[in-house]
Amino acid sequence: MKDLNIGMIGYGFMGRAHTNAYKRVNDFFDLEYRPVLKAACARNAGPAQEFADNWGYESIETDWRQLLQRDDIDAVDICVPNNLHKEISIAAAEAGKMILCEKPISMNTAEGEEMCEAVERAGVPNMVWYNYRRIPAVTHARNIIASGKLGRIFHYRANFLQDWTIAEDLPQGGNGLWRLDVDAAGSGVTGDLLAHCIDTAIWLNGAISNVTAMTETFVKERVHSDTGNVQPVGIDDACAFLCHFDNGSLGLFESTRYARGHKALYTFEINGENGSLKWDLHDLNRLEYFDYEDDSPVRGWRSIHISDGDHPYLGNWWVPGLCLGYEHSFVHQVADFLLGLANGKPAGPTFRDALETQKVCDAVLESAKSKAWVDV
Ligand SMILES: NC(=O)c1ccc[n+]([C@@H]2O[C@H](COP(=O)([O-])OP(=O)(O)OC[C@H]3O[C@@H](n4cnc5c(N)ncnc54)[C@H](O)[C@@H]3O)[C@@H](O)[C@H]2O)c1
Repeated sequence: MKDLNIGMIGYGFMGRAHTNAYKRVNDFFDLEYRPVLKAACARNAGPAQEFADNWGYESIETDWRQLLQRDDIDAVDICVPNNLHKEISIAAAEAGKMILCEKPISMNTAEGEEMCEAVERAGVPNMVWYNYRRIPAVTHARNIIASGKLGRIFHYRANFLQDWTIAEDLPQGGNGLWRLDVDAAGSGVTGDLLAHCIDTAIWLNGAISNVTAMTETFVKERVHSDTGNVQPVGIDDACAFLCHFDNGSLGLFESTRYARGHKALYTFEINGENGSLKWDLHDLNRLEYFDYEDDSPVRGWRSIHISDGDHPYLGNWWVPGLCLGYEHSFVHQVADFLLGLANGKPAGPTFRDALETQKVCDAVLESAKSKAWVDV
């Protein structure tokens, strides 16, 4: 088995989710490569060392530039706020490192384009962590759609609803709250939440051609954690958009952090001439399926528990009928990345794939501003 030495940048939510995946993947998947937790990088040595000790990294760095200089690092994993993705990715590509970058790929399409050019020029394997593709029920939905069972597609709709920024005294910026600071995040729910919905939608239903959108910022000013001053809020708190897909179907998307009672309600539904599918992150092992070709006495929505040995990824886990969770999507993504390294077929989404989602996000924000339809 070949070692793949990982340099992890950031130790927050995603730093932990990815590290868990690197640690588990070879226990459950038979692969040529084995991730080695070589170095963890964060700005301050104390927390970096604590993270390294807790999760099993061999060493730490406090400057990502130092990490990129190290000969013993094969791949860097970028788990830091969005405003750092471009600079680190381009430097990592120039240093010849493989790159696994968190989503959204960038702050905007222009940045993302530069990143794609850098990884393609350097010829380094690259991937963006749109992990929802690898929840088995979502992968299974794709297989059903690809088999043609739904027939011509008419509608795609998705929601991603949260409620954690309603309080007006919540600051913006700094640790944990960088998502509210437009300079760190690039946008609000569009890049943070809708980007997931858009990636899944493109993967399941093909390219989006044009959009019309509205956004709202309900709390217009917040104290900034870095300066202590009350500053304008530059992110979108809520966003809804309509779109056309290239296949002629219509899309309807909504995301907000102001849907009281919802923590992470990600749902999608797709309606075709012969059938429909729907999925809900809160019940992530189920896929709801309606098949119009069923005999009428038994025709109706079926709730398929995606836990059998022949469902995507499930054969690698427990006995049929038992459940997987959110964290397994990351294990599956690492497994596919490592498989891609071995067989020369890169796992998606690559940087270039993820740029398509970024283009839709940019078109959505532009449309919300101009109040006009925008081509992607
Ligand atoms: N795939 C998903 O479902 C998913 C979920 C959450 C977040 N994300 C993405 O992951 C990225 C990180 O989000 P998070 O939730 O883990 O954030 P977080 O706030 O939990 O962690 C961010 C980390 O970045 C570190 N950091 C900031 N500046 C740094 C620097 N200059 N050098 C080194 N480390 C630095 C912080 O110390 C912290 O450890 C974002 O791009 C976000 O959009 C993706």
